[in-house]
Amino acid sequence: MTITRRDLAKAAGVAAGLSLSGATMAQSDNTSPSTSPVMPIRLSGDGIGLQPLAYTELLNKLCKETDVEPDNYLLGGEVEKFEQYCAGVLGKEMAVFIPSGTLANQLALRELAGTKRRVIVPGLSHVYNDTGDASQNLANLNLIPLAQDRATFTLEEVESIIARTEGGRVTAEVGAILIESPVRRLRGEMVDWDETKGILDYARERDIGTHLDGARLFIASAYTGITPAQYSAPFDTVYVSLWKCFNSNVGAILAGPRSKLENMFHTRRMFGGNLFHGWPSALVAKHYMEGFTDRLRSAVEISETFYSAIKDIPSVQLTRVVNGTNLAGITLDGVDIAEMRRRLAELNIMIGQPNADDRITLSVNETWNQTTGELLADAFARSLA
Ligand SMILES: Cc1ncc(COP(=O)(O)O)c(C=O)c1O
Repeated sequence: MTITRRDLAKAAGVAAGLSLSGATMAQSDNTSPSTSPVMPIRLSGDGIGLQPLAYTELLNKLCKETDVEPDNYLLGGEVEKFEQYCAGVLGKEMAVFIPSGTLANQLALRELAGTKRRVIVPGLSHVYNDTGDASQNLANLNLIPLAQDRATFTLEEVESIIARTEGGRVTAEVGAILIESPVRRLRGEMVDWDETKGILDYARERDIGTHLDGARLFIASAYTGITPAQYSAPFDTVYVSLWKCFNSNVGAILAGPRSKLENMFHTRRMFGGNLFHGWPSALVAKHYMEGFTDRLRSAVEISETFYSAIKDIPSVQLTRVVNGTNLAGITLDGVDIAEMRRRLAELNIMIGQPNADDRITLSVNETWNQTTGELLADAFARSLA
């Protein structure tokens, strides 16, 4: 089949009649006609990249459809409804809206550790690397990093830390273990689930709390078929980001047992996390959370077709992550990158800039559902010429 430039433009924006906006895209109906402006196909980012106008249009639409009840300092109204919804999806007794993932992780560790102040964390985790030592400085926790260059630490490593802790001259106990999966610093690699389940069993036997930094947990579910609730089940608490793949402007959900979370609103306030209103974030995040894994699964299929089609182009080197999720890398030999990006942009396809190693990160998100793998590969191949 010869693909014309017109076909490519269609593929890129799914054609004028089939264009999708932030407001219509999450309806999981990729073919419904819409008069909304064409939304770019983004080959980067976990979310769809809602721009201010699309965001406010979506909020407007949701407010018209629902009898929106505002919350008061995150209590009641849409926030409470959303928390209950998330508790159900994550299979936990309770969920609490927290303004950021940074705070959600810290509050979870603080609560789980209690008076046992040592906490085992992955050496590559967000908590250990990207929070300015918040848990150490603000929650008085002593973080022990394991596995500085890998996604998964082993049960043996945990046992060895616990043995050393127990043998110390001064009593100091491990109160919590954090697992992050997918691991952002390893381009979305997931932890080895069997090894991790062994660690979680061991922790439970020893009354050590366990927390999952599942900022991108729903993305992992789209790749593995293991549901967010199944992933969360062996953990005491779990955090999920609301702004990464659910496109809200802000927010995080922390879910877990009532005994740990029922007074969390006091701690949230103590740490300055008492936003006056969370309802706009709750509305948007819920809109995209519903049916997300199915929609991302379909985007993943499109991306797999695209990857198989481009991997044999001589100027392209594609790098996949083993046990990975939605991120892949490409390096391009002898290609004018600026020109390639310009050509793709003409077709409403947005691709990221190369990083310091000249690698461009590709990220599968819901916007890929606006095209097919074949058409995207064709558009991409032509942009290199
Ligand atoms: C794995 C992981 N955990 C936690 C966070 C923190 O989330 P927030 O930016 O909402 O504080 C991030 C943010 O990038 C992240 O990637």
